[in-house]
Amino acid sequence: MEAELPSRPIPRHVAIIMDGNGRWAAERGMNRLDGHRAGIRAIRRTVEAARRHKLQVLTLYAFSTENWRRPPMEVRGLMAMLLEYLRREVDLLMEQGVRLGTLGDLGRLPPSVQRELRRAVDRTAANRDGFLNLALSYGGRDEIVRAARTATRLAATGRLVPDDLTEQSFAELLDTRGLPDLDLLIRTGGEHRVSNFLLWQLAYAELWFAPVYWPDFEGRHLDEAILEFQSRRRRFGGFNPEISVP
Ligand code: IPE
Ligand code: IPE
Ligand code: MG
Repeated sequence: MEAELPSRPIPRHVAIIMDGNGRWAAERGMNRLDGHRAGIRAIRRTVEAARRHKLQVLTLYAFSTENWRRPPMEVRGLMAMLLEYLRREVDLLMEQGVRLGTLGDLGRLPPSVQRELRRAVDRTAANRDGFLNLALSYGGRDEIVRAARTATRLAATGRLVPDDLTEQSFAELLDTRGLPDLDLLIRTGGEHRVSNFLLWQLAYAELWFAPVYWPDFEGRHLDEAILEFQSRRRRFGGFNPEISVP
């Protein structure tokens, strides 16, 4: 598959809305947490596929600000799984040379998860062969409000002149500061919406919808998404002479 990919640039930053774990489980007569467990296996496969493609950044939507509204048992199960994932997976990330990062309002996570996240982020900090960014307790609106709050605080203490605030300097206050622009958003599970993910960063990202529930997502789906991305003409509102208007 790799050899078939033409010389067009690969996306530097890919984000995935990993949706459909519950429906995947229901179709098999299993419970939702079994679906989430199968979803973790799909994460492992996808990190490997992202490395194969040499993506710089893979951002995964693992838990949204709205997901706190789910039944306490599911939330507890998800947090326990996250803890287990972090404890087990960091060795593999070290072997793969992948650095771990996070975005979201981490202060809402259980202290044990916060601690394990900090350890994993610190341990992998020097890795350079890829960046896995987990969105946890993340909401796009929440991220923008937190950044606005920081800007207001800086202005109130004289460290920011309001007229100096630009799109570039505001982006530096977001959780994605320092990362390349988002190129491609993938959503699994059949819904065609963004569900409060990366609202700012999506401005000119390409969108691709995978026709499978997240636990069934395989490396070949990422291959397909990248191939489709490479066939798109990104104009960013400008004029691209390569495009012939019918
Ligand atoms: C996505 O799968 C995982 C999380 C939101 C944590 P869902 O749990 O939303 O699965 P469906 O959409 O109900 O099938
Ligand atoms: C989006 O999926 C959030 C994550 C994948 C973490 P949801 O299942 O929460 O989204 P909606 O409710 O279908 O919009
Ligand atoms: Mg869902």
